[in-house]
Amino acid sequence: MNDYAGAEKWVPHDGGMRKVRAVLGDCRGCDLWEDAEQAVAGEGPVRARMMLVGETPGDHEDKEGHVFVGPAGHLLDKALVAAGIERSEIYLTNAVKHFRFEREGKRRIHKTPSAGQIVACAPWLRRELEIVKPELVVVMGAVAARTLLGPSFRVTQHRGERVELADGRAAVATVHPSAVVRSQEFRRDFDRFVKDLRGAAALLD
Ligand code: URA
Ligand code: SF4
Repeated sequence: MNDYAGAEKWVPHDGGMRKVRAVLGDCRGCDLWEDAEQAVAGEGPVRARMMLVGETPGDHEDKEGHVFVGPAGHLLDKALVAAGIERSEIYLTNAVKHFRFEREGKRRIHKTPSAGQIVACAPWLRRELEIVKPELVVVMGAVAARTLLGPSFRVTQHRGERVELADGRAAVATVHPSAVVRSQEFRRDFDRFVKDLRGAAALLD
């Protein structure tokens, strides 16, 4: 595992989300900034009651500079609608802010960030949590779970359950929408994903 400086040095602790967004792109906390087009900041109201955390920007997000605008984002949009959740009312972000990929000819193939890169980037997500103070965090997939619930947490064993982050904040873990996109049993896995989201929203009522 590579040792990285980590993002802490670049994370502003004064000012709000505007400041975070302004300086995120300066981060050199790990090596992922080198090949990516840009850092992709979280989006949504800073007073959102619910925060959804994914993995990293993908190819589309890296080019466009917005979270969840590619295939995983389209699936997430459909699932949110089915679960009765307004995308415009939630805060949507990633555990790691720069895209990691390998080149295959002209294509850029997503690669899961390493444990070291996940740890290095965590201060940005911590700062977003401090600013937004969501009542509930939806943890989507293993990378977000590693950051927020620790390396021994297993999404498959605990998906849909109410769990707690280290700071006591309520959370629900589920799969990453890209796992649903790739699923061989799409209908079943889409419905399960929607059920987890609906269950999470119900915790806020
Ligand atoms: N997958 C993620 O985890 N985040 C995005 O923004 C896009 C795809
Ligand atoms: Fe900084 Fe995170 Fe980008 Fe690494 S992935 S350079 S820690 S913002």
